[in-house]
Amino acid sequence: GAEAVVIFNQGNDPTREGVVVGTLGEDHGVTVPVVGASFANGASLASAGSTAHVQVIPSETRTDYNVIAELPGKNRNNVVMAGSHLDSVTEGPGINDNGSGSAAILETALTLAKSKPQNTLRFAWWGAEEEGLIGSAAYVAELSQAEKDKIALYLNYDMVGSPNYIFQVYDADQSSFPAPVVVPEGSTAIEDLFESYYTLKKQPYDDAEFSGRSDYQAFIEAGIPSGGLFTGAEVVKTEQQATIWGGTAGASFDPCYHQACDNIGNLDRKALEINSDLIAFAQLTYAFSTESVNG
Ligand code: PHE
Ligand code: ZN
Ligand code: ZN
Ligand code: ZN
Repeated sequence: GAEAVVIFNQGNDPTREGVVVGTLGEDHGVTVPVVGASFANGASLASAGSTAHVQVIPSETRTDYNVIAELPGKNRNNVVMAGSHLDSVTEGPGINDNGSGSAAILETALTLAKSKPQNTLRFAWWGAEEEGLIGSAAYVAELSQAEKDKIALYLNYDMVGSPNYIFQVYDADQSSFPAPVVVPEGSTAIEDLFESYYTLKKQPYDDAEFSGRSDYQAFIEAGIPSGGLFTGAEVVKTEQQATIWGGTAGASFDPCYHQACDNIGNLDRKALEINSDLIAFAQLTYAFSTESVNG
């Protein structure tokens, strides 16, 4: 099974199923079959809020693939990357998670395909994200240092059309990566670009936790400036958020998160439209220049 860092609720027997309330590289709010675990301070059980290293049983065992497409720019040595995971959980079709991001970067790629940008544009549709960020981690692990150095930045889009959405931007200036991971300088400029677009379009936005819950993690660890968008998953919308964005207070941002009902109806078309435009805007901006990020 894949190693995962899991925060249990309380007193879970590590050899049975634990209700996961916070994870790294795995999903939140779902029950993960656990086959082994060890806890901080030599404790035999996780206490409320503590961190446990557990082994989880993969939901399926098979070969999966990343799909990579590249449009060469005038400068082949400065690459602007965008990525979205193309897999879903086995429980459902994964239209919001993550058909939404996958479709948005596909549309951007098709729109820019006939251009000759200054910088090289690379698009990634990741495999096996839901099994623990496997596709993106494998991709970065296989890059030479010279290849890593050519990647100016990485933009991640995972769930960008949630039915009970709020607009969120990965929070680079207050990231919550566990030490010793440090968010590369330049990530804040990416956050600023996304936020400036929402401001331009008079759309409210908030910070999204930037802690390694999607495919940007390997890029951050490799020192590549990164950012991305998120419209919410299992977390419940507050009254205050409903006042700002509309939608339903007391319901999850995506009530069908990781379920069979994450089908074609499980999207907010307005949120997907605005974010798709923003995704194209960001790619086009960095196609011209990445100077604001890399100096
Ligand atoms: N990576 C999560 C999933 O695919 C979704 C997610 C993205 C959650 C970003 C939090 C932040 O299920
Ligand atoms: Zn998911
Ligand atoms: Zn996802
Ligand atoms: Zn911020």
